[in-house]
Amino acid sequence: MRILVVGSGAREHALLRSLRRDPAVTDLFVAPGNAGTHSLATAFPLDVADPSAVAALALELGVDLVVIGPEVPLVNGAADAVAAAGIAVFGPTAAAARIEGSKAFAKDVMTAAGVPTAMAVAVVSADEIDAALDLCGAPYVVKDDGLAAGKGVVVTSDREIAVAHALAVMEGGHPVLVEEFLAGPEVSLFAVCDGVRAVPLLPAQDFKRLADRDEGPNTGGMGAYAPLDWAPVDLVPQVQREVLDPVLTEMASRGAPFAGLLYAGLVLTVDGPKVIEFNCRFGDPETQVVLALLDSPLAGLLAAAAAGDLGLVSPPVFRSGSAVTVVIASEGYPGSPVVGDVIEGGDEEGILHAGTRRDDAGRVLSCGGRVLSATAAGRDLGDAREKAYALVDRVAMRGSQHRTDIGAAAAAGRISAP
Ligand code: AMP
Ligand code: GLY
Repeated sequence: MRILVVGSGAREHALLRSLRRDPAVTDLFVAPGNAGTHSLATAFPLDVADPSAVAALALELGVDLVVIGPEVPLVNGAADAVAAAGIAVFGPTAAAARIEGSKAFAKDVMTAAGVPTAMAVAVVSADEIDAALDLCGAPYVVKDDGLAAGKGVVVTSDREIAVAHALAVMEGGHPVLVEEFLAGPEVSLFAVCDGVRAVPLLPAQDFKRLADRDEGPNTGGMGAYAPLDWAPVDLVPQVQREVLDPVLTEMASRGAPFAGLLYAGLVLTVDGPKVIEFNCRFGDPETQVVLALLDSPLAGLLAAAAAGDLGLVSPPVFRSGSAVTVVIASEGYPGSPVVGDVIEGGDEEGILHAGTRRDDAGRVLSCGGRVLSATAAGRDLGDAREKAYALVDRVAMRGSQHRTDIGAAAAAGRISAP
């Protein structure tokens, strides 16, 4: 199989690593990739936001499968363009990617499918904000309805901050969603889908806030671990029954069957798991830990999903133990990341690259907010944490930031399902 992976994050680096281990894969390409992916795949420049450019590159390379990492190309229709060129693609159509592209659309699908989720009110004008905040109550959850790279959500007990965020989102021309606050541990569950069937992977936990103890602003994700030893044993079958299967049925009935990776962001509340968001692609950084534990071929699984044939492949197998990833971000992330700093130690096994590039002298430089993902598997969560943080210690980058508590509460037995 010749495969093109679209994207340039640590998620794509992790995907390439797993694909490289699959004996069915003969040739790997990445566009645009980063300084860490060049040893795994041949890189090509690409404007990933342009669907026709994605399709043209896939045709030029004569690949058998295109795997699209980020949401922007999917929401723009890259999967449609690749499929129209006659090439198999892992990633949903633009119509199905709306499940991430519009939170209001996702709510509508969930309501129609009877999927448990937070009560939400769409707000389109400034004079509706107060009533919506009163109805949902504090702590206030105020969301940008459009794509915002995980940074469009404000959760606060401060009414003024909630109102200010709602107004700022409206000024940006987007509708606002005000939501009921859901209390409980968060879980990310990925399912590989073929339009009809959903095959769940391992549940993982992401750390969205910038700083230790969940302080600071929301980010794209500062670290993750998997699996969740504290979660109820029937969590995955329950989510399959109550969330994944009904959503696939609803999407198909709307003429937008979901094929690709459906990411359910859940809160385990006292009333059971409830959805706070869907993403239409692999999550970053959760992918780094889920794939670090994958012990069966990835290419065949993704190709079967693309072909609508998940019923014909064996379910994925995961090794025992745990995995941890710690994101190393640049100074100023998530507000205004400083780029161009030299990175030392980025070549260690287990360091997955995101915002990195090589200069003419061959040095690795930062070129984005999230720069590296130090990823390790271990016999248990404590062991995986030690290994991941040992990798972090080997990296040097001026002004870098990372959390020191990824997986710490779970490793200490301080998380329990309600
Ligand atoms: P989202 O972009 O929708 O995933 O939201 C980002 C983060 O905000 C989530 O990971 C949660 O930590 C938090 N969040 C979003 N919606 C809610 C909610 N309804 N209740 C509690 N926390 C939420
Ligand atoms: N880890 C959160 C996301 O990928 O959206």
